[in-house]
Amino acid sequence: MDVDAIVAALTVEEKAALCLGSDFWHTAPIPRLDVPAIMVSDGPHGLRAQPNESDHVGLSGSLPATCFPTASALASSWNPALFGEIGRALATEALACGVSVVLGPGVNMKRSPLCGRNFEYLSEDPWLAGELAVAMVNGVQGLGIGTSLKHFAANNQETDRLRVSADVDERTLREIYLPAFERVVTKARPWTVMCAYNKVNGTFASEHHWLLTAVLRDEWGFTGLVVSDWGAVHDRVAALTAGLDLEMPPNLGVSDRAIVTAVEHGRLAESVLDTAATRVLRLVSAAETALAPHASFEADAHHALARRAAHESAVLLKNTGNVLPLRPRAGETVALIGEFARTPRYQGAGSSQVNATRIDNALDEVTRLVDPSVQVTFGDGTIDAAVELAGSADHVVLFLGLPASTESEGFDRTSIELPAAQLELLSAVAAAHDRVVVVLANGSTVRIAPWEHEVAAILECWLSGQAVGGAVADLLLGVANPSGKLAETIPVRLEDNSSYLNFPGDSGHVRYGEGSFIGYRGYDAAHAEVSYPFGFGLSYTTFSVSDVSVHVHGSVGADLHVDVSASVTNTGSVAGAEVVQVYVADLESTVTRAVRELKAFAKVALEPGATDRVTMTLDERSFAFWSIVHSRWAVEAGEFELGVGTSSRDLADRIVISLDAPSLAAPLSVMSTLQEWLADPRGSELLRSLDTTGALNSDELVRVIGTMPMDTLAGFPGIGFDHAMLRSMIEQL
Ligand code: BGC
Repeated sequence: MDVDAIVAALTVEEKAALCLGSDFWHTAPIPRLDVPAIMVSDGPHGLRAQPNESDHVGLSGSLPATCFPTASALASSWNPALFGEIGRALATEALACGVSVVLGPGVNMKRSPLCGRNFEYLSEDPWLAGELAVAMVNGVQGLGIGTSLKHFAANNQETDRLRVSADVDERTLREIYLPAFERVVTKARPWTVMCAYNKVNGTFASEHHWLLTAVLRDEWGFTGLVVSDWGAVHDRVAALTAGLDLEMPPNLGVSDRAIVTAVEHGRLAESVLDTAATRVLRLVSAAETALAPHASFEADAHHALARRAAHESAVLLKNTGNVLPLRPRAGETVALIGEFARTPRYQGAGSSQVNATRIDNALDEVTRLVDPSVQVTFGDGTIDAAVELAGSADHVVLFLGLPASTESEGFDRTSIELPAAQLELLSAVAAAHDRVVVVLANGSTVRIAPWEHEVAAILECWLSGQAVGGAVADLLLGVANPSGKLAETIPVRLEDNSSYLNFPGDSGHVRYGEGSFIGYRGYDAAHAEVSYPFGFGLSYTTFSVSDVSVHVHGSVGADLHVDVSASVTNTGSVAGAEVVQVYVADLESTVTRAVRELKAFAKVALEPGATDRVTMTLDERSFAFWSIVHSRWAVEAGEFELGVGTSSRDLADRIVISLDAPSLAAPLSVMSTLQEWLADPRGSELLRSLDTTGALNSDELVRVIGTMPMDTLAGFPGIGFDHAMLRSMIEQL
């Protein structure tokens, strides 16, 4: 397709038409120039292709597709290669359905455990989310299908999501809410980015020039297309001017008319329209692969992949006395209690809802896996019957979690507790059996502290896709070994979460008052006890991390990179996988910084007794903060601690390195304080030459007046310098 020639041949009306879809899921065709329409479909963990139906909240049907583990589950795998595999599977299904762009992944940060859409998002940590999403985008796009990185930006709650203004300072945006987008844009070049519904600091994301153009395109070099979230456009011309190319779904007859009128009246430069039309045509051109007929996908193979993915997504939180894996002997009884054992909750509601090709349940799969002499009994969770089952069973597995009605796109949760009826069931069953295993199904963190002492083992499975039943059976019986790690902290109480006082806001605003201290950054800074820390997860085997070494290459501003190596040994008796994590702490800083931040990780699969040596590389950005004084990333000279371990709170080794870096101090001015002048060698020398009384040698005096700007001090009698002398000192500097 000769895009430039087509744009040159288009009328203003046709260009305007291209900047809107033609219906809910298609771009606008231009038949006279042989421009086809292409189809886009949700979503992040499975396709929701609706060739004949249209809604963006998952109410109507869609073609059968594989429902992979949702983002919060899959992120717990900490396995980019798995994301790549699932990306390829999504692309294969998209090809089979004639879909050109998959609307995902979603890389919004989990600011609060209450966000109703957390199940669609990856993590509370931008580095982890970014790395995993890069792999997924590469997987999808490697097969000629586009992705839509969403929701750009600061879409971290469902309450009032179409109007609320996320009020967030630039440093927090740069360090927490934008980096996952930045990483994916710069490393994987997604074909499209989807703008968020909400406002950011008072401006709709769909009209946010700074986000959509200054940052996304000018700084990060994005060359793809920006599409609106479904219904996010309020002023089509303002959105176009800000950098939003494609409005979905199209407000036909209104938005196209507004664009044409604005061009006619000179309120919109036609060149802006040309640019957007060019981007739409480039997308259509890139997407042509999907328009050719393709064979249907292999549903069984994808189901098997979904099962493997669900293995890796499960996080073993507790396993007292190695109660797991279960080893039922001939003639023993295994009781599975809770409706989720028979009717799994495996995905969340809303636009990401997949019409699964098939659904496994744990009851059937456990029954299939155990020796025929083992009796598998089931109770749906009626308390008296459950107690009776548990009392007479050798092994008891209790299936708990959140009902579908409590977490969904469109609204937030108001609590992180399990439903009261489930807690009652849990206590009753735990009183009847001393080694109860709990299997959890929930899209975002639930509170565990009040009841964890009542049970022997907890396997957090999140919403783990259509094959979760088989995967849970494999994990319970040791056919698979858990290797998931928490991508979000499990707090002791909701109130310990740093966003607690500012979520979800009111009166049209949500203030990100905690700044960059979300997730583990908040709990660590507050020294808060947590139930299970970020990065945590047990295995049926044990590992040691040893021989950590660090090599610094280059220097700040000159290709700094730091290699961190560690040996990982499987010290137990079964094969398993461990995730080695590297956290960076800035030990000397003039700005407030997190206690530690994840900057690298590697997942290592090992046979019993085997050792592997892994090397992870940190770049300059790993040590940087966003300087609001300098409006750029900056590394401050001083000591940094590199903590290497298997969770944010279990560091096997900590190595301190020292980095040299140019001073970040602002040049001295009349508004610099006395302390700042004294800290500067030249400034101090000049000042001291005027200090005939030796007052500057008095620590006490300097402490009291040291924070005053020189301009103020110059006005005080007896201080030793006046405004003229201050100006002269500045000239000398
Ligand atoms: C959601 C998007 C989704 C779109 C299309 C919106 O409601 O926020 O994530 O891609 O609908 O279904």
